[in-house]
Amino acid sequence: MAEYTDDCFLVPGPVRMNQACLDAMSNPVITARGSEFRDVMAELNSGLRYAFNLSPSKPEKKTQSWAGDDDYKVVVVSGSGTAGMEMIIANRFRTNDLVLVPTNGKFGERVAEMCSRFCNVKHIKYEWGRAFDLFELEQQLERKCYEALLICHNETSSGITQDAPAIAEMCQRHNVPFILDGITSIGGLPVDVEGWGVEAAVMGAQKCTAGPSGIAAITVNSHYIERCKAIREQSESNPVFYLDMISALKKGDDDQTPWTPAINLAMGWSKALDALKDETLEARWKRCSILSHGVQNLFTNLGFELLADPFQRSDTVTAIMYPDGIDDSWRSDLKEKYNTQVIGAQDHLKGKMFRVGSMGETTIEEMVEGCKRMISCFKDHGLELPDLDVESFFEE
Ligand SMILES: Cc1ncc(COP(=O)(O)O)c(C=O)c1O
Repeated sequence: MAEYTDDCFLVPGPVRMNQACLDAMSNPVITARGSEFRDVMAELNSGLRYAFNLSPSKPEKKTQSWAGDDDYKVVVVSGSGTAGMEMIIANRFRTNDLVLVPTNGKFGERVAEMCSRFCNVKHIKYEWGRAFDLFELEQQLERKCYEALLICHNETSSGITQDAPAIAEMCQRHNVPFILDGITSIGGLPVDVEGWGVEAAVMGAQKCTAGPSGIAAITVNSHYIERCKAIREQSESNPVFYLDMISALKKGDDDQTPWTPAINLAMGWSKALDALKDETLEARWKRCSILSHGVQNLFTNLGFELLADPFQRSDTVTAIMYPDGIDDSWRSDLKEKYNTQVIGAQDHLKGKMFRVGSMGETTIEEMVEGCKRMISCFKDHGLELPDLDVESFFEE
């Protein structure tokens, strides 16, 4: 394995951007409404359809680059993933609607809170890192009172990936629309938007696709679009302006956005998506899986406890509990002395846990070196750890 000597940046997003993406963002300005920007949008739309694992579209303007042979369109949002999720929710539900939101971490809880601003929510709160009780979800769906079920597919705060195929199957059986926060899953884990019958999903650029922060994308099917239009026509929609889905849909046909787009971010993201296409989705999913399984098995063998249930651990982020006597001062030292960054925990787990990202374009060499540095830093902090062959945990 080639030696890695650079900084290790192992956080679960924003992730490092490649040179082509950075270069593209330094392109000179172009107008927001001219044909050059339509070229940029068409390329971006086509790359996004690939990342969403949807049918292809031509990366050419005036060819409906946002659509394909399936029932889905992609919509670019100027704003981070949260803006994308708010756009999905605010436009889709009436204040009297009731949605079901099971959660097991911070970002799922945020989905529930966001929904509560726009409609009624049945929030089923599981402990962080514990899998949903599918029997309980099935019982809820049997009540036939839900307008949709929303989940955070990959819970970045606790390192668990929900059993989306099983939940999708239940939703299809009960005819309940299924909506995904796919911000740290799409592009990094197998996501089958069409096969799962997902009505709407969002991805953030700065996560699995290694694009810039501040831009996101949504995919929606025709049922979603019909519902938004019907709600608007009946004057029952929640107040939206900047994030108005109807305005975005009107402009999409023409490779445009309703307001001034995030022009240079779009240019950069498009190049990051080219890198994804070159690698292929399947190869990226596999690399993320090798990286995450390596980290999970290594730290388990070192005697650390992982937060998430073993059978649903995420391939894009691993949440590892600190042993007794270790706290976030370890992370500060890791950054200062070892030029290696991982991220801490949120809310009640702050100072008790750290998280290692395995998304974007992170190489196996970087992860192996990063793990060696983490181990050395733990030893500096007085932990006695067995000597293990780190490389061997990352073999295919
Ligand atoms: C699963 C998940 N959902 C939502 C968000 C929020 O996304 P953003 O910070 O892009 O608005 C994050 C950010 O880490 C996330 O990991």
